[in-house]
Amino acid sequence: MVTVSVIKADVGGFVGHSSMHPDLQTSAREELEVAKQKKILIDYHVSYCGDDVFLIMTHDRGVNDEQVHRTAWETFLKGTEVARKLHLYGAGQDLLSDAFSGNIRGMGPGSAEMEFEERPSEPILVFMGDKTSAGAFNLPLYKMFADPFNTAGLVIAEPLHAGFTFEVHDVVNHQKILFNAPEEIYDMLVFMGSPSRYAVKAVYSRRTGEIGAVSSTDKLSLIAGRYVGKDDPACVVRSQGDFPAVGEVLEPFAMPAIVEGWMRGSHQGPWMPVSLADAHPSRFDGPPRIACIGFQLADGKLVGPQDMFDDPAYEPARRQAAEIADYMRRHGPFEPHRLPLEEMEYTTMPAVAKKHAGRWEPLE
Ligand code: F6R
Ligand code: MG
Ligand code: MG
Repeated sequence: MVTVSVIKADVGGFVGHSSMHPDLQTSAREELEVAKQKKILIDYHVSYCGDDVFLIMTHDRGVNDEQVHRTAWETFLKGTEVARKLHLYGAGQDLLSDAFSGNIRGMGPGSAEMEFEERPSEPILVFMGDKTSAGAFNLPLYKMFADPFNTAGLVIAEPLHAGFTFEVHDVVNHQKILFNAPEEIYDMLVFMGSPSRYAVKAVYSRRTGEIGAVSSTDKLSLIAGRYVGKDDPACVVRSQGDFPAVGEVLEPFAMPAIVEGWMRGSHQGPWMPVSLADAHPSRFDGPPRIACIGFQLADGKLVGPQDMFDDPAYEPARRQAAEIADYMRRHGPFEPHRLPLEEMEYTTMPAVAKKHAGRWEPLE
């Protein structure tokens, strides 16, 4: 069995919250190389989207392994030191705890991990989001694994025809539920369509029971009880054969869906699919970005990466996202560009409400 662990955090931005300093990535590579030499990891790849560093690690220790999580935590601590030295912005921003206690979950970084038997050829796609939040993958995962208008294989390929099981998490009440697609999609969408509360954690093949996708559902604001940055989620998808083809996995992102995040984590905006070269959100700190790197696994080794959205076929989506961004921006401080009061990550509301509390008069 092989485990793919993607653990990510924002430990300092360059410049502001827009991108990642190369020294931070170098320091992460050095740390993970040591873990590889020590045989904690089989292989690793360090990547980024905006101001978040993504550690893509393979090993044979299963999910929630203490040594792998400790490796990631210490890598983020080293990155924070680099960020402090260079006075990068928001050094250590996502590290919400002072001491590692065995598992990185609940400590700030996001994690998406899956364990499986590697197939003779195992294509995997790692999605990296910035300026958005956990739950943003709900719509693309629905399209990949449940929508026949996206995934032709659901209709015409025998291994996909039985459908998929979705594991949906209620991130507020910390509980989970399994829904079978296609027969339960109407009920499932009642929950999934509200991604700030319900997030798809994993998807399984109904034919084999094999895991096909996993996403990070860690909500920083719920962990910290206050705004500390957006979750900027990760998602890993296995592809081909019993799973959607690479092109079916990528297809949902040809439509720049509206997601929560953007400026101060308090706005709605289009999710723009970009190559790594363009994974530097700058307009109004956005619009939110999604990058994807692909690998072939070879006995746990990561053969790659391939920069999947570095393809002119996504130009129309990028152009449309830029146009939607323009249109949304013209709403300024008004909803639905600005998030509803209870969803905003930054707010002056309690203070302003207090200031004017005595001025409200009853209506006639
Ligand atoms: C959103 C984000 C940025 C910051 C904004 C203000 O996820 O990271 O939009 O929220 O740049 O940042 P501060 O308050 O750190 O000046
Ligand atoms: Mg940041
Ligand atoms: Mg970020």
